[in-house]
Amino acid sequence: MAKIIKHPEVEDYFVERTLDEVKAAPRGLIPDYEANRLIVLKDYRLAVDFDAFAQMSANTKDAPAALQKQLKKLQATHILQASPTSTEPLHKAIFETFCNGDPALFQRVQTAMRAAHEAVMGLFRTCFPDYEHFRVVPSVRLTRTMFENLHWDNHNIDDDFQQVRIFVNLDQRPRIWNVSHNYVNFARTVYRDHDLARFAGRDPNEMNNYIVGSILGGTAGACRDTLPRHVVAFEPGEIWFGESRMISHQIYYGERAMVYMFFVKPEGMLDRKRRFNAQVEALHASFAPAR
Ligand SMILES: [Fe+2]
Repeated sequence: MAKIIKHPEVEDYFVERTLDEVKAAPRGLIPDYEANRLIVLKDYRLAVDFDAFAQMSANTKDAPAALQKQLKKLQATHILQASPTSTEPLHKAIFETFCNGDPALFQRVQTAMRAAHEAVMGLFRTCFPDYEHFRVVPSVRLTRTMFENLHWDNHNIDDDFQQVRIFVNLDQRPRIWNVSHNYVNFARTVYRDHDLARFAGRDPNEMNNYIVGSILGGTAGACRDTLPRHVVAFEPGEIWFGESRMISHQIYYGERAMVYMFFVKPEGMLDRKRRFNAQVEALHASFAPAR
């Protein structure tokens, strides 16, 4: 089970559910997810060949910087589509550089990736039975992340969709996150002082840029913000879910992970008003002068 140290000044939005509990619930995790909870799948570990991924990470150390960057947010589908005879540059690099041209390692990595990919796609269907996704970004992070700045995710697209994020720790060591306030709750506390009304009716990413950059300090000011936070250590193979535009987070330390992002049509939601764009609109409306 994830080790969670809760801070009394931050909302307690954690829930733990076993897969059996999720299957028994008519709408799976949807009610918890739309309540912007951080959901940990209790007693579940993705059984995966961690060593195969660890070796692939180790083989990148001498790779050119541009290739290493591609490995930072690699799509799982590239690993699944690559082969020892690939000519497509990234697929070729997966075999020749990341797998060191070793057919046995490549086979292990691809088998592990396929199993992990299918498990996560299956969990999406089981946990979000009424959700229909129209796009998936199946990201695999095989490089170390440390000391991110605290932030709410900004996808730089103002498309109005429900996002489902599924996270998996693919490393043998814990993945350490700090998490803090819900986006709307935090914005409400600083709304008047920072004149956030000027962002009403605009692309919601603009207010995110302002809050994360000017108030929390942005990438340049990583770890300088003073918000209280919960500290979480996710176990090897552990899986968790959360709307990363609503739950502020800071990867403090992690080696390898899967981060699958599903774009879901609002029509399948229990309450369409719980999608990100609608929650931001409701915040502005609550501060708008009465007519
Ligand atoms: Fe993030």
